[in-house]
Parts: sequence; C-alpha cells; structure tokens
Amino acid sequence: MCGIVGYVGERDCTEVLLNALSKLEYRGYDSAGIAVFEEGKISVQKAKGELKNLRNKLEEDHKPEGHCGIGHTRWATHGEPSDINSHPHGSKRVSIVHNGIIENYKDIKKFLIGKGYSFVSETDTETVAKLLDYYYNGDPVDAIIKTLSDIRGAYALGIIFKDFPNKIFAVRKDSPLIIGVGDEENFIASDVPAILQYTRKYYLLEENEIATIMEDRVEFCDIHKQEIIKEVNISDLDMDAAEKGGYEHFMLKEIHEQPTAVKTTIAPRIVEGMPNLSECGITEETLKNYRKVFIVACGTAMHAGMVGKYVIERLARCEVTVDIASEFRYRNPIVTPQDLVIVVSQSGETADTKAALHLAHEKGAKVLAIVNVKGSSIAREADMVIYTHAGPEISVASTKAFSVQMAVMYLLAFEMAYAKGEISKERCMELTKKLSDIPELIEKTMECADKCQYVASKLITASSLLYIGRGLDYTLSMEGSLKLKEISYIHSESYAAGELKHGTISLVTDEMPVISVATQEDLLEKMVSNIEEVKSRGAYTITVCKENMEFSEGIMDEIIEVPAVEDVLMPMVTVVPLQLIAYYTTVLKGLNVDKPRNLAKSVTVE
Ligand code: M6R
Repeated sequence: MCGIVGYVGERDCTEVLLNALSKLEYRGYDSAGIAVFEEGKISVQKAKGELKNLRNKLEEDHKPEGHCGIGHTRWATHGEPSDINSHPHGSKRVSIVHNGIIENYKDIKKFLIGKGYSFVSETDTETVAKLLDYYYNGDPVDAIIKTLSDIRGAYALGIIFKDFPNKIFAVRKDSPLIIGVGDEENFIASDVPAILQYTRKYYLLEENEIATIMEDRVEFCDIHKQEIIKEVNISDLDMDAAEKGGYEHFMLKEIHEQPTAVKTTIAPRIVEGMPNLSECGITEETLKNYRKVFIVACGTAMHAGMVGKYVIERLARCEVTVDIASEFRYRNPIVTPQDLVIVVSQSGETADTKAALHLAHEKGAKVLAIVNVKGSSIAREADMVIYTHAGPEISVASTKAFSVQMAVMYLLAFEMAYAKGEISKERCMELTKKLSDIPELIEKTMECADKCQYVASKLITASSLLYIGRGLDYTLSMEGSLKLKEISYIHSESYAAGELKHGTISLVTDEMPVISVATQEDLLEKMVSNIEEVKSRGAYTITVCKENMEFSEGIMDEIIEVPAVEDVLMPMVTVVPLQLIAYYTTVLKGLNVDKPRNLAKSVTVE
C-alpha cells in the first residue's frame, strides 16, 4: 500500500526521499512523487510506475535541490495510476502526501468547489490538500485541526506549507506513521525500514497527535494545541534482514528463512518442555475458561487461523470459529465477554483485521493478537500479543509469516488442551518436543525444491488449476492455491476433496492439473479415491504426501514427498512444496515474484 516519507536536515532532500521510498517499494505501489522546498517554492515531481521512472524524470526534467520535503509511493484507490493522481497533491500554499481513504471526500469536494476551488485529480487526497488550504490563515496547526474535524476515514498525512520551508507537519488516524529522529535531521515515514539507513530512533505518532518536524527538534500537540511529551523508541530491526542476501528474490529467501523463524518464535515460549505464553499475558488459568474462540484475519493469516481451528478443536476440544476479517466486521457476530478473539496479522496494520479487533472490544471480548511487526497498531491495541519473530517479510507473498503464525497456533493449542485437561502433561510435552523438531524438518523439506521446479515447468501453460485436500490438508490447499494465483496469475481454486463431486468436478479435463495435499493418514484412503476420480477424467495429478507412501500405479503423475511427522503437525512441512511450486512457476513465467500486480504488502484500506 502507499508509503510516506519526509525529510528535514542538511542532506540532499531529494536523494533521502528517493532512498527512503525505495525501502517501502515492497509494500506495493503504482506511482511515486516528491515535493521539496527549493528557493522558497514547493517543487513537485511525480511519475506513474516504478520509482525508477521518477528517478529518470528527475534526471531528464528537474531534480529539486533542497533540505526539506515529502515523498510518496501510491497504491491507487481513487482514480487510476497516473502522473496526475500521484501524490503529493496541493495548492500553491500547501502540499500533502496521504495514506488511507477519506470517506466523505465527495461532500468536501462539493463544498470546496462551491468556494471556488478546482480539482485536477480524481483522488480523495486532493480534497484534504485543498481543505487545508481553505482553512490556512498563517497557522498550519490551526488549519490541520480544522481539517481533521471535517474529514472522516483513515489517514496518515505528511504536510508542508509554503510559508514554513523548514518544517513538516504530520498527523494520523487508522494509518501508521512514525517520526525518525536523527542528529540535526528528522524524518517521517509510514514504516521503520524507510529510515533505518539514517537512524534507529523514532517516535510513534498516536491518533490525532500533530507533529511539527524541524531539523533540530520535533514538537507534538493534541487537537487542543496542548503540548505532548513523547518517548523515543529504538528499532532493533535487522537491516540485512531486509536485503536479498544472495537470493534471487525475497520470496525464496523468506522460504529458506522458515526454519530459523520458527525456531526463534517458539524457543522462548517453551519452558521445561512445556509451552509457556505467560510473557505474552496468557496463562493456563485464562485459557481454560474461554467459552469460545474466534480467529479473525485476512488472506494467508486467515489460513494460519484455519490450521489453528483444526488443532485447537482437535486437541483442546474448544469451539473455534474462523472468520475473514472483512466479513466478521459486518456480520454482527455473536461474540461475548467470555470469548477469546484472536486476530492474526503479519503487518499488524491490515484495516479489516484492525476493525475486527475494535468490534471484539466493543463486544467486551479479550483480544489476543498474533503479529509480526513490533509496535504495529494491532499489537498496540490488543489485550495480549504474541509476537512472531519472523523478521521483516518483504515479498508480497507471505511465506515465513505463515509458518510462524501456525507455530504459535500449535503452542496455544497445546497449552489450552493441557489447561483444559484434554491432554496429559506427558502428551503436551511430547507434542511440544515434536514442534521443536520442526525447524530441522522444514530444512529437510527444502530438498524437494528440484521436484517442485520440475512440476512448475509442467504448470506454466495451464490456465487453471485445482488444489484439493481434506481436513488440515484442505487448509493447506487453500494456502497453496492463494500463493500460486497471487504471483503466477494462473487461476486456481481450492476445494475440500469430498466436495468436488457436488459440482466442481465437471471442470476437470486433461487441461486442468490437480494438486492434491494428502498427508493425513486417517483421510488417506478417501483422498486417494478423490485423486483417482480426477485422474480418470484426464487430470494431470500432483500429490504432496508423507515420505515412503505407497500408491497404486497410474494415479499420481507426480509425487512430492515431505518428511513424516505426526499428522497434526504436517502443515508445518507440507506448506514448503506449495510455496516452492508457486515460486518456481512464477519465475519460469518471467513474472515479478516479489511485487505481483495490483497487490500491496500491507492492506491498510478496506
Ligand atoms: O499483514 P497481514 O498478515 O494482516 O496480511 C494479510 C493478507 O493481506 C496477506 O496474508 C496476503 O493474503 C498475502 N499477500 C498472501 O500471500
């Protein structure tokens, strides 16, 4: 999604803005722009497409020279990607960059047109810029406060006023924004990686706090102009972790990081062989008393939630409902103060997941967040947080975040099952030990890479695929299907294998490859029958299963074996070939693996 940066200090502002924006490219965008103070004027440059287009334009046209300015990468919401719709937007007196969506922008636009303003873009952002201009009477903070009382929606705003060439103003609601603190230089950014090359110190801007950023200091006030004193945070983010480190793509690097990520996530939460989540505020006492668990998330995080449902229900015998966050928030779910709502999010900024958290709080439930990004909005607002320690995930396709989310689900399920008396201490320790062995087995699973590459070479000409599975394997088939379609652009559907006969099997021909996930021993016979059914209708069949399985000849065209662990833990290894198939198919098709079209890493709008 959109990225915001801003700089004030002695360095070449344009270069700093471009460098900082390049660190936000992974979030997904379709145009970029900057506004820099140059000889008392605001010089604006924008370009559709990648950041390099903006760089080229600056070289060919004009590269502003100055020491204070703002920059933006835009992911189109209102109006197509174009030079005109790119940010910054503004008037002669003000220029802004914006993340989020202004819900009542049409009313504001109408009002401003009535006051004689004209608009050049189709964006909601331009209305905020013009509204700031309308209210501006020489005091930027006054104009911001009046503007905030009129606008509705989500926003992070970086603002510069022509009359204040050494200041950036910033404010946010429902969209993240940080203020980077340097030595005689300061920054704004929507995400820490943008400023890490310059400083590790930053302030977290809270809702409707107004920041005035100058070269030598940052001042904060509330919407009544009362001064706010804030504490500086220090980021421990590993800069190297945000580089490709010799891999061709971030996705491949992140797939290979899974053993370490899982180990780092679970190791501190195992004490004397038992799961222990007390540092996250979770105790056996609380876990045994919940009436029901809701798991709410989007995309891949929701699939991790589905694994959680199977495992918690199977082991802890506690009812679990999994919801897509964008559905949960509008379906008036029957959540009570006796329930636990678990929200799962890599970024911790997903708009729908955040809204689900708010709804759960309104209904009096406790919210546990499973989040990767430290200090993100969801982590800060939840009652309890289990941080996954996957490190920065840059590729839009989520891989290592999924594995660590599942790992946390297992720890929770084991602890809950023990707390509720559903499993003995010995069994709990046994399962926990098996989970601790998983990182090594994930490493071993990587050996299937060549086979996955071969399978990918068979898939690149397909226009549509089916993924099938039963039980836990069905959730994994959903994840495999999502991964493939989001980066390779090959249409795929995932089906509960037993459901095929109720309609979808009519699609199966020799032009429809079918990837089956068949790792659950109690469901294996049924799965084999389902695979036979599609095979007999001409499908090219690829089966992911436990090692050393024996099948009758002629059913499986390709078999991808993964190490055998206890069934309940199989998703931890099964996901690897599914990720690799998606990865290699995309590479062979020559597509942009890490930044697929139309997608953003962090979906901060509804
Ligand atoms: O940051 P989140 O975990 O909340 O993001 C949720 C989804 O947007 C995300 O998992 C998405 O589905 C991935 N691109 C899938 O690979």
